[in-house]
Amino acid sequence: MKKLSLAVALLLTPALAQAWPWSQDMANQLSVKPQESPDSANPEPQSFPKRSVPVPGTTVAVKDMEAAVKMANPIPADEKSIAKGAQLFNIYCVPCHGKSGTGDGYVGAKLILRPFDLTSDQLAEKPDGHIFGMMTFGGAIMPPYAYDLSPTERWHVVNYVRKGLKKASAAQAASSAK
Ligand code: HEC
Repeated sequence: MKKLSLAVALLLTPALAQAWPWSQDMANQLSVKPQESPDSANPEPQSFPKRSVPVPGTTVAVKDMEAAVKMANPIPADEKSIAKGAQLFNIYCVPCHGKSGTGDGYVGAKLILRPFDLTSDQLAEKPDGHIFGMMTFGGAIMPPYAYDLSPTERWHVVNYVRKGLKKASAAQAASSAK
C-alpha cells in the first residue's frame, strides 16, 4: 500500500514541478515552426525574416541547449516587452532567483546548488539564447519552463533579465539599506 501511494504521489508530481510534456501534443505537427529551418541541409535555427511580426503562443522547435544558444532574440527589448518580462519573472523565477535576481529567493536558499546570480558579469557576457535555453531546457536543478512559458514569453523574460533586473536589484538593495 505504501508503495502504491508513493507511485501515485510520483505520478501526481507534474514531472517534478513541470507541466505535462504532452500538453503541447496538438501543437507538435509537421508544419515548420517559427525560427525552424525548412531546409534539412541547413538545420540551424533561423532569424525571423526582416519586418515579420512575431506571433505569440506559437511553439519554436529548438532541439537542444546548443541550438538555443545560437538563436537570435526576435523580440525588441522595448518598454512593453520588459514590463511583460518583469511580470512573468516575478511569477516564475523569483521563488529561486529572488526579486534581485541574485539567487536569494525563499526556495533558492534551500537548494544544494544556489541559483546563479542573474545580474552577474558572467551572465552578461553570454548570448540571449543562453537564457532562453535555460528556460527551455532547465539545468541540473532548475526545472524547464518550456511548458509554462510560450517562446515569446520566454524572450520577454530574457529582455527583463537583460534590461530591467539590475535596476530592480539596485532599488531593492537601496531600500533594504535604509
Ligand atoms: C526551482 C528553482 C528555480 C527556478 C524557479 C528558476 N531557476 Fe534558474 N536556476 C536555478 C538553479 C539551481 C540554477 C543553477 C544551474 C542549474 O540548475 O544547473 C539556475 C540557473 C539559471 C541560469 C543560468 C545562469 C548562468 O550563469 O548560466 C539562468 C539564465 C536562469 N537560471 C534563469 C531563470 C529564469 C529566467 C527563470 C524563470 C523563468 C528561472 N531561472 C527559474 C533554479 C531555478
